[in-house]
Amino acid sequence: MELYDAINRRRDTRREFTGQPLDAEVLDRLLSAAHCAPSVGMSQPWDFVLVRDPATLAAFRDHVVRERDVFAATLAGERAETFGRLRIEGIRESGLGIVVGYDPTRGGPNVLGRHAIADAGLYSTVCAIQNLWLAATQEGLGVGWVSFYREDFLRDLVGFPEHVRPVAWLCVGTIGDLPDVPDLERYGWRHRSPLATVLHGERYGAPLLTTEAASAPTDALSASTPTA
Ligand SMILES: Cc1cc2nc3c(=O)[nH]c(=O)nc-3n(C[C@H](O)[C@H](O)[C@H](O)COP(=O)(O)O)c2cc1C
Repeated sequence: MELYDAINRRRDTRREFTGQPLDAEVLDRLLSAAHCAPSVGMSQPWDFVLVRDPATLAAFRDHVVRERDVFAATLAGERAETFGRLRIEGIRESGLGIVVGYDPTRGGPNVLGRHAIADAGLYSTVCAIQNLWLAATQEGLGVGWVSFYREDFLRDLVGFPEHVRPVAWLCVGTIGDLPDVPDLERYGWRHRSPLATVLHGERYGAPLLTTEAASAPTDALSASTPTA
């Protein structure tokens, strides 16, 4: 699969899991892809806890259901109805949870590049997740990112030390076909916005020149800019 194809085909998955066990070599490739991710100062600040114990999966699922109810109670009318149709987890069906943690102490006190932006470590951890997600797409597997949880609960559940921050619970498993359309779009919760709505030229809010003009060398641009 071409990279752009994988990027387009990647889907957040929570309903199509077949329950078939994952091949150990494939799982190894996914985790290796995650561990290859870029990281600030090469700190590699991530940890991956693989959870398969049905009791742990059930405990996390029950917690997520409670959090789902908390969120649902904040919604009114049609919005509440649409949310009620959405599936927000596939914790037990996938059969494997990968809990991704962020360890800010990894790499010591002077992580190159993190002195001014403490969150750069967190960003690195998310890069690892995206690598895993794209690799899973390439392998024909489904990944669902669940964030309906309290961090303290998940930290305790998998035994992370106090300083390790849980960043994601990923439901990973074999699936049928990846859907073409994101679930949230399919069920009318929210649609993707066009790229043009998030592009700015030089300063936030300023219109961007056409892609062709913007990618032209500076001298070519200034040569074609009319002088007053
Ligand atoms: C940080 C993060 C947290 C997410 N948490 C949830 C979640 O708790 N439940 C859920 O249904 N989807 C969750 N998602 C999935 C998004 O809803 C999904 O990525 C989005 O709708 C776009 O669909 P796609 O990933 O299939 O393109 C999460 C995605 C990200 C990146």
